[in-house]
Amino acid sequence: MTRITSVSLRRVLDSRGNPTVEADVLTESGGFGRGAAPSGASTGEYEAIELPASESIAKAREHAVPRLEGVYAGDQRAVDNALRGADGTDDFSAIGANSAVAISMAAAKAAADVLGAPLYQHLGGAFRGENFPIPLGNVVGGGEHAKEATHIQEFLAAPVGAPSVSEAVFANAAVHAAVADVLDERGVPAAKGDEGAWAPPISDADAFEVVDEAVDRVEDEVGFEIRFGLDMAAAELYDDDAEAYVYGDETKSADEQIEYVAGLVDEYDLAYVEDPLDENDYEAFAELTDRVGDRTLICGDDLFVTNVERLQDGIDAGAANSILIKPNQIGTLSDAFDAVELAARNGYETVISHRSGETEDTTIAHLAVATDAGYIKTGTVGGERTAKLNELVRIADDAV
Ligand code: PGA
Ligand code: ZN
Repeated sequence: MTRITSVSLRRVLDSRGNPTVEADVLTESGGFGRGAAPSGASTGEYEAIELPASESIAKAREHAVPRLEGVYAGDQRAVDNALRGADGTDDFSAIGANSAVAISMAAAKAAADVLGAPLYQHLGGAFRGENFPIPLGNVVGGGEHAKEATHIQEFLAAPVGAPSVSEAVFANAAVHAAVADVLDERGVPAAKGDEGAWAPPISDADAFEVVDEAVDRVEDEVGFEIRFGLDMAAAELYDDDAEAYVYGDETKSADEQIEYVAGLVDEYDLAYVEDPLDENDYEAFAELTDRVGDRTLICGDDLFVTNVERLQDGIDAGAANSILIKPNQIGTLSDAFDAVELAARNGYETVISHRSGETEDTTIAHLAVATDAGYIKTGTVGGERTAKLNELVRIADDAV
């Protein structure tokens, strides 16, 4: 029933205007699924390899498509094993993780289509009322996503007290709007970065004040708790030669960075801190987790790259207490599920995430529900971001 009869691949635009890979999978009973690969800008050193879209498509057509024809789309492991077999490397450098992830997601959707079930149900999940994934919404940012803005890559609204998905989603949009008001009152002009967050030319210290103020205002309006968090993307701040984190003219040693972040967690009651330290420094991650892990999430993105071996190293070292899951960092949905399972078995929270270069694909909304993730990071505004948020709202409304 779900046997794959064809896989077609094409180049489509991502949100930065770059080419990315879109895959269509058809099954013998007429099931159809479409998936598109996202793309990072502040990519981790250990991520699976994204090839230029045309090259990835040509290689996947030659090596992967023939192997996929006849495989059951409903057997995700078989689809993903066929992709791995066709590629033959550990990091998808032969066919590109962009084609791999697009096909992996498209096959899952085709199988769900055959069953007439929403993707999250096919992936083994259920929407559990109040226990929805809390959306982390990027409201101010800089780093690799916007030049001349903050050094810290992302300031994220975290509506931890929201009674429903819908209220959480709208709260984040309200914080985004409130940030614009606060910046306007301060006479600060702001463009937007790659993920739709405001990218004002202000210091990190000022950004903390602005976001704190915006969150307070919206919290008063909506009447439930909103906190905020950060993606520091510290591997991008870290200079290997200087062995220091570089903030413009200032630098911080690893110890100073730990001190700085621990101070921020307490001063701003941060709910979440992603990649506060370099992707190679498990030890520093462990030290920070030891200090503040009882009151905030310390999340590994570039640190773990959705890779079970790197996550196991982190678990052994006590580094971080949560993991960011980006299917394109590892190349298949099965690999992403393996990382989620290993995290769950070891008490690590999971955060399903978009990339800075995105498409209208909504798979991550389903993945967050299917895996019972505590959080989902999707941005706040902009069509490629609201595609996921609106899909979450539909899932909660049982309308997908
Ligand atoms: P990227 O950034 O998609 O550009 O890698 C997102 C992140 O670091 O979480
Ligand atoms: Zn990150």
